[in-house]
Order: sequence, then C-alpha cells, then structure tokens
Amino acid sequence: MQPSGFRAKHNTHVLRVLIVLVVLGVAGGLARALLLPSSFGKYGHYRADAVREEMRRPLRNMTNESCLACHPNIKKIHLAGVHRTVSCEVCHSAYADHIAEGKVVAKMPVRRGEEIRTLCLRCHNRIIRARPKESIKMIAMPDHLEQKGVRTDHLCNQCHHVHAPLKWIREARAAMGLPERPQTAAEGGVSWMRD
Ligand code: HEC
Ligand code: HEC
Ligand code: HEC
Ligand code: HEC
Repeated sequence: MQPSGFRAKHNTHVLRVLIVLVVLGVAGGLARALLLPSSFGKYGHYRADAVREEMRRPLRNMTNESCLACHPNIKKIHLAGVHRTVSCEVCHSAYADHIAEGKVVAKMPVRRGEEIRTLCLRCHNRIIRARPKESIKMIAMPDHLEQKGVRTDHLCNQCHHVHAPLKWIREARAAMGLPERPQTAAEGGVSWMRD
C-alpha cells in the first residue's frame, strides 16, 4: 500500500494542466464576449447588423428607365436601336454623379471625339478574343474603315449614331433603295455601305 501523500503528489501535473485549461477557457470566453460584435451569430456566422449597414449605403447606379424619364428624345432613339440593352451608365457615368434627390447636381460626362472610338472599342474590338462573336459583333481596326473605303481617322459616330448604331446606315440604305445588308458589290453601289 502506498502512502496517500505519494498519490497526491503523483496527481499534481494533471491538476496543473486542468488549471491551465480552465484559465485558457475563461480568458477565451472573456475575449470572445469583449471582442465579438453584438449582432454576430444572430442569423448565421456573420454580423447581422452588416446587412442593415449595406442596405443603408446610398445607391450609385440606377436603371436605363430612370434616365429615360428625363430624356425623352434619347428614349425614342435608344429604345428603337440595337443599343437598347446597353446601359447608359456604362457609356456615361453613375446616376449619382448626375442626380441627387431627383435633381441635376452635376453634368453627366459625355465622351467626344477620339474618346468615342476608345469607348466603342471597349466592347467591339476583335482583339478581345474571349468575347463570343454571337453575343456582340466585333470589328478590327483599321480594317473596318479600310473596308468602307474611308480614311482611318474617321470617328465611329461619323457613321454610327451612338445611341442607335444602325439608324443612319439603315436610313441611308433605305433612301438609296438598297437591301438591308448587301452581300455583294452588285447589290450595294457605295463602297462604305457594304459590310
Ligand atoms: C431628374 C431628371 C434627370 C435624370 C433622372 C437624368 N438626367 Fe441627364 N440631364 C437632365 C437635365 C435637366 C440635363 C441638362 C442639364 C445640363 O446640361 O447641365 C441633363 C443632361 C444630361 C447629359 C448631357 C450633358 C452634357 O454635357 O451635354 C447626359 C449625357 C445625361 N444627362 C445623361 C443621363 C443619364 C445617363 C442618366 C441616367 C443615369 C440621366 N441623365 C438621368 C436631367 C436628368
Ligand atoms: C454606347 C455608348 C452610349 C450609351 C449606351 C448611351 N450613350 Fe449617351 N452618348 C454617348 C456618346 C458617345 C455621346 C456623345 C455623342 C456625340 O458627341 O456625337 C452621348 C450623348 C448623350 C447626350 C447628350 C446629347 C448630345 O449629343 O450632346 C445625352 C443626353 C445622352 N447621351 C443620354 C444618354 C442616355 C439617357 C442613355 C441611356 C438610355 C445613353 N445616353 C446611352 C454614348 C452612349
Ligand atoms: C458596353 C458595351 C458596348 C459599347 C461601349 C458599345 N456597344 Fe455597340 N453594341 C453592344 C451590344 C450589346 C450590341 C447588340 C449586340 C450586337 O448586335 O452585337 C451592340 C451593337 C452594335 C452595332 C450593331 C451590330 C449589328 O450589325 O448588329 C453597332 C454597329 C455598334 N454596336 C456600334 C457601336 C459604336 C459605334 C459604339 C460607340 C459609340 C458602341 N457600339 C459602343 C455593346 C456595346
Ligand atoms: C465610314 C462609316 C463607318 C465608320 C467611320 C465606322 N463604321 Fe462601323 N459599320 C459601318 C457600316 C456601313 C456597317 C455595316 C452595317 C450593316 O451591315 O448594316 C458597320 C458595321 C459595324 C459593326 C457590326 C459589324 C458586323 O459584324 O456586323 C460594328 C460593331 C461597328 N460597325 C463598329 C464600329 C466602330 C466601333 C467604329 C469606330 C471605331 C466604326 N464602326 C466606324 C460604317 C462605319
């Protein structure tokens, strides 16, 4: 039989480990209580207040409809053309840069001259190989202008209405009695009107 003192001495290391674990547990619990945001975990593993904070952020972007309410002339042209699905804000700027509380607060940026070419080619440049031809028609520059038989410093908006790119081309073809999209030189007389 062993003396009881020996038994107690033999167990102290277990006791020490237990004390360390308890201290760590209490410290961890305290740290959690102090550091965790109050709404954490209300709905899931995130801060419930974050949802409300995001909802309170002022809107920067709006729909084309919201622009068209104040721009009836653009509305007629834009909705009738092939760019009707393209967002006004992509080519101009965010709604909030122009309108606040229903009123004009600043001029909306408008691309002019050379900037227009850069803008158009952002979407229509054949160099962007990842973009499927079936979704957006691509052109290569300066081939596109050489094919039309014009100088290569022509700007896109000299032939394409920016808000309805085929408007003038269709009107010109109709006025000259040409078919929608002439396939051969025999069908279309003027070189720049051929595709
Ligand atoms: C509350 C009415 C209203 C709304 C909504 C509105 N606009 Fe305007 N916008 C105006 C008025 C008025 C002007 C002319 C004021 C001026 O020239 O400074 C104007 C001017 C413009 C101009 C011409 C700027 C220039 O320098 O010639 C552009 C481009 C424009 N708006 C685009 C947009 C777009 C894109 C949207 C939607 C994101 C939009 N607008 C929404 C009222 C509005
Ligand atoms: C594909 C790009 C593009 C889209 C989409 C677009 N715009 Fe424009 N917008 C332009 C460019 C470029 C000009 C300048 C045209 C020029 O100088 O020939 C312009 C000019 C304007 C002007 C000024 C009119 C003028 O000629 O000075 C207004 C107003 C305008 N846009 C409103 C709108 C609204 C509203 C929408 C959406 C329904 C819209 N735009 C969509 C590119 C675009
Ligand atoms: C944000 C992307 C975007 C920008 C910027 C843009 N376009 Fe477009 N464009 C489109 C989409 C989408 C269509 C409709 C799909 C199609 O027909 O290729 C289209 C159609 C066209 C078409 C008709 C193609 C056809 O034969 O059906 C022409 C021409 C055109 N755009 C010219 C322009 C010009 C010129 C500019 C610059 C003022 C411009 N685009 C800027 C996206 C864009
Ligand atoms: C000299 C006039 C002219 C100029 C300048 C011009 N285009 Fe065109 N573009 C045309 C004609 C004409 C078509 C054929 C439209 C048709 O088939 O109905 C065309 C067709 C297109 C198409 C459709 C291509 C396809 O495969 O159907 C796109 C996209 C286009 N142009 C973009 C541009 C861009 C971007 C610029 C400026 C860098 C530009 N164009 C400059 C006359 C021009």
